[in-house]
Amino acid sequence: MVKTNTQGHLTIGGCDAIDLAHNFGTPLIVYDVTKIRYQFEQFQAAFDETKINYEISYASKALAIKAIDQVINQEQGHLDVVSSGELMTAVAAGFPMAKVSFHGNNKTRAELNLALDQHVGTIIVDNFYELTLLEQLLAGTASQINVMLRLAPGITAHTHEYIQTGQVDSKFGFDIASGQAEQALKQVLASQHLHLIGYHAHIGSQIMAVNGFSALVKKLVKLSANWQEKYGYQPAVLNLGGGFGIQYTANDQPLLPKNFIHQIVTDLKAEIAKTNLNLPAIWLEPGRAIVGTAGYSLYTIGARKEIPNLRTYISVDGGMGDNIRPSLYQAKYQALLASNPLASPTQTVTVAGRYCESGDILVKNQPLPDTSPGDILAVLATGAYGYSMASNYNRVGRPAVVFAENGQAKLVVKRETASDLIRLDLDYLN
Ligand code: LLP
Repeated sequence: MVKTNTQGHLTIGGCDAIDLAHNFGTPLIVYDVTKIRYQFEQFQAAFDETKINYEISYASKALAIKAIDQVINQEQGHLDVVSSGELMTAVAAGFPMAKVSFHGNNKTRAELNLALDQHVGTIIVDNFYELTLLEQLLAGTASQINVMLRLAPGITAHTHEYIQTGQVDSKFGFDIASGQAEQALKQVLASQHLHLIGYHAHIGSQIMAVNGFSALVKKLVKLSANWQEKYGYQPAVLNLGGGFGIQYTANDQPLLPKNFIHQIVTDLKAEIAKTNLNLPAIWLEPGRAIVGTAGYSLYTIGARKEIPNLRTYISVDGGMGDNIRPSLYQAKYQALLASNPLASPTQTVTVAGRYCESGDILVKNQPLPDTSPGDILAVLATGAYGYSMASNYNRVGRPAVVFAENGQAKLVVKRETASDLIRLDLDYLN
């Protein structure tokens, strides 16, 4: 998993991590673009083997910057956006709007208007309010927009387990059990402006087993068959959402994309065979699985605090501002010394961030070789929901982002400076 060069330094995308840190400064988030492409292509290759129609729609909330949208476009992918900001990032990246899906449980009128203006390919409709807004915005026009109905499937998956409940307590999607989903279906089928291409459901994130997806496929096919009998409508697409788990530390044993996809397609074919439905296309929305392990956070080590017989802290120049996941979700990461990632450990340290909060700990109890101030520490697999959830807490600027591929490093997001931070402030007294 870890690659080194002849000097024994960590390399990312064929670039020396120490050079990257020195050239671009720290904290720095570096993506190995080859890994991003590889992951994306794993999803495509697995589907290609099954011969069914599919789309891989990258969930850009995991990392929403122009550079990744451009790579996904080059890889022939689709893109999910959940806000006008993510949508305009895709526009700025030159992403084909026909391949964009717009998600969200509270899209505003302005956002829906923007999506229609930009000719976004699909709107994943979440609720009745959104149906009303869309009808209002399209009233009096000859326009039609492709929509999917987001259903709350009553299945929630976390790692290896999934829970099936009659009714799910979720803010997302139309509830099935109470008849709301069916009511939404009737409304969409009666609409002049909304063209229903199928159903969507998302069951969770960082999922390590395929059983939740199998349950989802069964449920959606059964529902589709039922509604086909009642309303004569059958979905062209079943969108099963994202959630494919990745390896953060040695304790995580994720499945490969093909393990998920082959089982999903086997289940789909078996379930469809019991009905009069045609085989629908499957769309998936991986976010984390595309960018997670491709991302590395590089930090410079500074202060050290040894509490005898208790703990040694080493502090780095980033932390919860660029990676909130350890504080927010108790997420576990692995860190290594970029100058010598393969060296045997001589100490166990807790890697602390620089933010004014005790909970700002990036990695607990990390074995490392000897470290000194100025050394570069790499935290692995920070590519998903790190930069995208970054904040300016303590008025610290967000890090720069670099894409590295085949030994070439390119700055793709500039480091935020103090003047960037103050740019939106106005004087109260002057
Ligand atoms: N599709 C939908 C409708 C979603 O809600 C999500 C994630 C995805 C796709 C992508 O899921 P992924 O493949 O990345 O697991 N901030 C959290 C993760 C939140 C995920 C929200 N929805 C974290 O850092 O773990």
